[in-house]
Amino acid sequence: MIRRVFVVGAGTMGHGIAEVAALAGYEVYIYDISAEILNKAIEKIKWSLEKLYEKRRISSVEEVLSRIRATLNFEEAARNSDIGIEAVPENLQLKRDIFARLDSLMHEDAILATNTSSLPISEIAEATRRPNKVVGIHFFNPPVLMQLVEIIKGNKTDDDTVRRSFEFVKSLGKTPIIVNRDVPGFIVNRILGAIQNVACHLVYRGEYTPVEIDSAVKYKAGLPMGLFELRDFTGIDVGYMVAKALAERDPLFRQECPLIEEYYKKGWLGVKSGKGFYEYKSPSDRPNI
Ligand code: 3HC
Repeated sequence: MIRRVFVVGAGTMGHGIAEVAALAGYEVYIYDISAEILNKAIEKIKWSLEKLYEKRRISSVEEVLSRIRATLNFEEAARNSDIGIEAVPENLQLKRDIFARLDSLMHEDAILATNTSSLPISEIAEATRRPNKVVGIHFFNPPVLMQLVEIIKGNKTDDDTVRRSFEFVKSLGKTPIIVNRDVPGFIVNRILGAIQNVACHLVYRGEYTPVEIDSAVKYKAGLPMGLFELRDFTGIDVGYMVAKALAERDPLFRQECPLIEEYYKKGWLGVKSGKGFYEYKSPSDRPNI
């Protein structure tokens, strides 16, 4: 039975996952390496909960917030939780170190989940003595508004862990889909990554502008955001790391559009840095497409 959730990493995805779990009634620990990061995460959760309150989707911001404990104490949070959800940057060694720690501290029935966007679950699970209880639970940004969650089976994940993860995601009010093959990028990021990459090559060659492509996919193909708007929204750095992980593991993804590395190196990270394919004066700015 899952009662307490431990979210490791309080960035864009981590704080959203913590919010979703608290909204569903779970007690939540959210951990990161500095008080500053944790304070920012709590501020963002508060902002989001206030939005939900304005729209009468919740009756009290404080009540939901009271279930979230921001902590710098990894050990205490791990020992007291029934599921660990890791949401740190896409660095395999970092994730493996975290999983080894979770494995040594969490009780034996606890599920160890990763929100990785692109790395194989089996490679992360190898760092533990319980690869059968390691699973991918992949949320989309922003977790509070996005309905889909991918549940990814590693080579050794057992059926009971998949079933419990599925029930857990349903209890969050989300729609889980099970991804049976542990391929890098799973389903959504493989497809989305390929489409975004083609679009980026067209801009790199000078054939179209981001606005032209975004207008086409948004207004003709009916996507909620343009492809470049979405890259800026999720972060050029996140896209760069996902593309690298895919390129290293699958020949289909070897021709990454050079603009992404260029923007990443220039620090043009999208909404978070004020510039990516578009410019942003504030985090709530949207490009004029
Ligand atoms: N919490 C609460 N409310 C929020 C919010 C949040 N986190 N984010 C936005 N809102 C609010 C806005 O403030 C706005 O409120 P208002 O009506 O009071 O002004 C309202 O929601 C609607 O937002 P927008 O005006 O921005 O309009 P949209 O209708 O476009 O909805 C969206 C926003 C749901 C994000 C939609 O644009 C969308 O679905 N975009 C695509 C997102 C997507 O594809 N995400 C997946 C990325 S890939 C990924 O995450 C994988 C990873 O591995 C990289």
